[in-house]
Amino acid sequence: MRRFNIAIDGPAGAGKSTIARLVANQLGFIYVDTGAMYRAVTWKVLQKGFKIEQTEEIIQTAQGMDISLKPGENGQLVYVDGQDVTSDIRSDAVTKFVSYIASIGEVRKLLVEKQKQMAAEKGIVMDGRDIGTHVLPDAEMKVFLTASVKKRAERRFAELQTARPELTLAELEQDIARRDHIDENREISPLVRAQDAVLLDSTNMTIAHVVDHILDLCRSRVLGGIS
Ligand code: C5P
Repeated sequence: MRRFNIAIDGPAGAGKSTIARLVANQLGFIYVDTGAMYRAVTWKVLQKGFKIEQTEEIIQTAQGMDISLKPGENGQLVYVDGQDVTSDIRSDAVTKFVSYIASIGEVRKLLVEKQKQMAAEKGIVMDGRDIGTHVLPDAEMKVFLTASVKKRAERRFAELQTARPELTLAELEQDIARRDHIDENREISPLVRAQDAVLLDSTNMTIAHVVDHILDLCRSRVLGGIS
């Protein structure tokens, strides 16, 4: 089968990672979670004890660290300078600060460059906020995946209920709305739907349904040669 690139963008909690991973598995493509890269930088910055205002130190940290993504049995594994940080980068502290770190232009430039390199050989499903607009503007298939804030918070709540019983639905809803606001309003590469991205609202769709729909779109628009 012809190899091509798929860009999946959208707000926090829209199901991008799960869906992108399943689409990649079906096609035999490689899945790249770019949010994990911004989270990895944030984790390292917090480890070093820097504050958000220390932009120069943050940029230097990002420039001096090695981030690698490897496929694992339960999803993508994330390594920083050889250390497995897959679960550490999902902590509340990282989630709270990541959107601030992701709004620093030099950090974005650095990570976008790495992401472009990862996709150069094609056969990549990449999810994030600026993939269709900036990272892979020539991706053969672009999807903008969204869902209502309420639905996204409910999904996160269901996912985290066992691991984090102290979290409330209201807290999750607030966190999601706060991150959306920062991501949509930052100066550099804000979260916005690429003009040529297919808009998919998954509020009333199951994961399997969304995956099938994206695969159908790939068949008709990319593999079938219809654009
Ligand atoms: O996808 P995830 O929610 O893990 O991403 C964490 C944060 O990283 C987002 O809220 C956003 O601030 C940032 N991000 C970004 N550009 C991307 C991917 C993620 O700015 N391509």
